Order: sequence, then C-alpha cells, then structure tokens
Amino acid sequence: MQKKNIESFEMMFSTMEHGIRTGRTAYYLALEEGLTDVEVYNTVFGAVLHDIGKFNLDEHILSIPGRLTEEQYAYVKNHAAFGFKLLSNSFNQDIQESVLHHHERLDGSGYMHKKEFSICTKIIAIADVYDALTNKRCYQQKVFTHQEAIAEMKKNNGFDRRLLDHLECMMDDNKKVIV
Ligand SMILES: [Fe+2]
Repeated sequence: MQKKNIESFEMMFSTMEHGIRTGRTAYYLALEEGLTDVEVYNTVFGAVLHDIGKFNLDEHILSIPGRLTEEQYAYVKNHAAFGFKLLSNSFNQDIQESVLHHHERLDGSGYMHKKEFSICTKIIAIADVYDALTNKRCYQQKVFTHQEAIAEMKKNNGFDRRLLDHLECMMDDNKKVIV
C-alpha cells in the first residue's frame, strides 16, 4: 500500500475515534443534565457524527501541524456545513443542526456567530473541545490533563459554565469513565 493511502486512513481513523470519544463524553453529560431519551439520542448521534464533513475536505490541510493560514482555516470551517448536508437525508433535523453548529459559542465567537443553540449542541461543543485538548491529534501537540482542559475551557466565555462544572465533577469523583 502506498504511503499516501496509509496517511489517509490514519486521518480517517483519528477523526472517527475523536467522534466516538466525543459521543461518549456527550452521553454522560446529557445524562447528568437530565435530558429526555430523545435528546440523549440526538446529542450522542450529533456528537459521534459532528466532524463527518471533514471527509469532504482535503486531508492534507487537516494534517497540517500548528496554526493554519486564514485561507486554510476558512476552508476547514466548511466541514460543519458539509456535515449538515451529508446528514440531510438520513438523520433528523436536531442532529443535522447540532453538526452544523458544533463550533458555535455562547459569546458569538463561533463559525456563524450564533449565540443561541440547543442544549444538545452546547454539550457537543464542550465534549468536542474537551476531547481535542486531552488527546494527541496531529495539530495538537500538548495533551492536557483533565483539570488543565477544564481550566483552559473555563477561560473561554463561549462554553456553558454549568456543563463545564458537571464535566469537572464527573471525573473528579471517578464515578463515570470518560475516554
Ligand atoms: Fe469540527
């Protein structure tokens, strides 16, 4: 097998593993939040699939370590809309919208500058960044501990504070295992 193919598959595995870990974290947060069964379902599927639009992107750009140029970053941002489109015929609207908005932030600093979005999306946004900080990815050199990741996210006004507190406690008392 050629090296390019191996790298392509590695990128795909990395994106899918990130989705699964994000889904598991989102699941526990959704339970902690007392969401309905339907909301838990939407949250978990949205979390697992949140980056599916990355499969429409040039994987070379995804594997660039460190900061992207403005142009590259603008291109990568398309993955949220690509994911929304990919799911349009197969998953319900709440899941599609969570995928579209998973980079939105409560302070309006996200991709589309929305300040209001569903509880499912708020959970996915937190689970996504938590997983990205606490696992080694090609563009993420430092791996944060649980406490470092929570502290880093608390510096950002874009995340729901109560959900961050839930996430912090879930690991502290070690009652639930988040991978
Ligand atoms: Fe994303």
